[in-house]
Amino acid sequence: MNSIQEFLFLLGSVGFILGLKYMGKPDSARKGNLIAAAGMAFAVIGILFFDNKEEGIVVANNIGLILGAIAIGTIIGWLMAKKVKMTSMPEMVSLFNGMGGLCAALISIIEWRSHEGTMEMGHYLPIVAGLIIGTVSFTGSMIAWGKLSGKIGDYRFPGQQFINLFLLVAVLGAAWMNFSAANSGEDSMMWFYAIIGLAIIYGLLFVFPIGGADMPVVISLLNSFTGVAAACGGFLYDNKVMLMGGILVGSAGTILTVVMCKAMNRSLTNVLIGAVGGNNSVASTGGKPGGTVREVQATDVAIMMKYASKVIVVPGYGLAVAQAQHVVHELENMLEEEGVEVKYAIHPVAGRMPGHMNVLLAESNVSYDKLVEMEHINPEFATTDVVLVVGANDVVNPAAKTDPSSPIYGMPILDVENSKQIIVLKRSMKSGYAGIDNDLFYNPKCGMLFGDAKDSLQKLVNELKVV
Ligand code: TAP
Repeated sequence: MNSIQEFLFLLGSVGFILGLKYMGKPDSARKGNLIAAAGMAFAVIGILFFDNKEEGIVVANNIGLILGAIAIGTIIGWLMAKKVKMTSMPEMVSLFNGMGGLCAALISIIEWRSHEGTMEMGHYLPIVAGLIIGTVSFTGSMIAWGKLSGKIGDYRFPGQQFINLFLLVAVLGAAWMNFSAANSGEDSMMWFYAIIGLAIIYGLLFVFPIGGADMPVVISLLNSFTGVAAACGGFLYDNKVMLMGGILVGSAGTILTVVMCKAMNRSLTNVLIGAVGGNNSVASTGGKPGGTVREVQATDVAIMMKYASKVIVVPGYGLAVAQAQHVVHELENMLEEEGVEVKYAIHPVAGRMPGHMNVLLAESNVSYDKLVEMEHINPEFATTDVVLVVGANDVVNPAAKTDPSSPIYGMPILDVENSKQIIVLKRSMKSGYAGIDNDLFYNPKCGMLFGDAKDSLQKLVNELKVV
């Protein structure tokens, strides 16, 4: 490694760390993304043009091919990122993550083939770990992508957990046999293929039974796998920036997985076994015994909001489905012109991916200081005149606090029932992701404004112009 390369790798590592730090807050996330991308550019330039090791010569001899591949990848990635709908983001993340896993596995395959014959354990371990983890991440991510795009359903069969455990032991056994065969001069190729085959099957069976709606958690977990696989590549090539990037992705993915599980009050085992989720089409019939639902009209809601001092909007998955982010911002502006204070209550798992509501509302230029996180907004509901729940359901379900038999019991929720009036915008009495009824809708303070969220918000905007 020469000093220019070392310097570029240092810039790359600093870019990754700073980028990740800035991505932690909505108002600096865009900048964080750019800084991390610049860090990656420094690392790539360092490896392509300033490597005087054996690999550097290989790179120099194939520079045309490499730059061509980078150009094709850049164009495809750019077009996909431009075209993707906000509701399809988890699918795209899954697809891209799978490609990362595949790259890590291919690096291991190439490295193993170039060292065929005896090999030290210290060198073999990162190769085989990168191969197994990368392959599992690739196949698992492809299944996750298929499920999220509705192409693949949930497949469960008895004894699946035992088969998975068996596969895991078998793949480790094949890895050991491969190492032993290579070092004793025997044909180790068969074992090498066995590792790949078993890891592919394990990746498929690992994700197949998990409920479709649990996929964001699984994708985050697979993302951390890809990071670990990339870190193995960093070990192999003694490439510090690759090692650092892999470790950052691995640890950030793990932390995100834990944070998501905590925010849903579920253990990772529970997500992987799939006790909740994949059931979001369950319909409750409405008219719960002893409870009545009060339907309201847009005119009444517009008047109620116009004369309020403070309105809190609770965005949920339905806001994303309806693509109602622009019209909700328009409503916010109109209310503020009337002297009403407007804030947004952001639940950590509202929607279907981490930061879903922040990303969505940022798209329509809602000011970041209006997006208030759950623990800070909860005490404010008691002094709020109207809460407008837009396409949210589970994140405002009081059963999480009051019903120990509820599957969401213990999940922290937004205390909207403490406000003076609650208005819920949704199309029907259907349940949300958890597939359960919501007592909030039968609360005497709650009015239901039925319809598509975007249409209902548009009606409120129109009414506000005339009331
Ligand atoms: P949900 O509980 O899923 O409820 C969304 C509601 O939106 C539904 O009840 C639906 O009712 C309504 N809706 C759908 N399309 C609509 C439209 N076009 N217009 C108006 N309403 C519409 O959403 P939430 O409150 O945001 O909670 C998120 C759930 O997802 C939580 O249970 C969470 O644990 C889970 N989850 C989140 C994540 C992340 S990372 N965010 C990951 C995995 C799981 P109608 O059909 O009656 O309209």
